[in-house]
Amino acid sequence: MILEGIVTTVSAGGAVNIAPMGPSMDAMPDSFLLRPFPTSQTCQNLMALGEGVLHVTDDVLLLARAALGSVEPAPPLVPAAKVRGFVLSDACRYYEFQVRGIDTTQPRARIDARVVHHGRLRDFFGFNRAKHAVVEAAILATRTAFLPLRDIEAEFEKLGVIVDKTGGPQETAAFQLLQEHVRGVAAQNSR
Ligand SMILES: Cc1cc2nc3c(=O)[nH]c(=O)nc-3n(C[C@H](O)[C@H](O)[C@H](O)COP(=O)(O)O)c2cc1C
Repeated sequence: MILEGIVTTVSAGGAVNIAPMGPSMDAMPDSFLLRPFPTSQTCQNLMALGEGVLHVTDDVLLLARAALGSVEPAPPLVPAAKVRGFVLSDACRYYEFQVRGIDTTQPRARIDARVVHHGRLRDFFGFNRAKHAVVEAAILATRTAFLPLRDIEAEFEKLGVIVDKTGGPQETAAFQLLQEHVRGVAAQNSR
């Protein structure tokens, strides 16, 4: 199964990077497979340092912000226990990992990660349609370069209804951020 999570990594220069990633994994993972695009900072950092932290979270505002670029100001972070990396203090659970192997022969790299430490910080909120709608919207917002913008805008119309009906302030703010991004891309394309 694919888990939509957030990965923190550190660059060779020491900068922390936060990015949503969807690794394939089991419910109780001792390893998982990341599929980052080689152009992503996450992939670059993992190729350079070979370590990171995967987080399970219900914070869709952080997920949306991280999907669109570097997160400023950074959310609260604490040093990881077993890897050179950082844990998001507000995550529900996390998996510190080391890279066992990297295959860059395909358009998306295949990074085999071994869990070396894990922890639980708080409960997961639970199913919420608005949170899931924001996850979908965030994925679409990262694909404006290769999906037809008309299709993305049509999906946003539907997802927006779900966010309005079932979300709270966090989901509304996250969706607005993503919507502004898509509107910005549309405005640029029409110039
Ligand atoms: C829920 C979600 C899952 C994602 N999964 C992946 C993934 O598995 N691989 C990937 O390359 N990008 C994925 N993305 C897109 C990246 O998060 C996005 O391109 C991001 O800007 C990469 O950041 P980075 O360059 O800082 O690593 C995902 C986005 C979202 C919202």
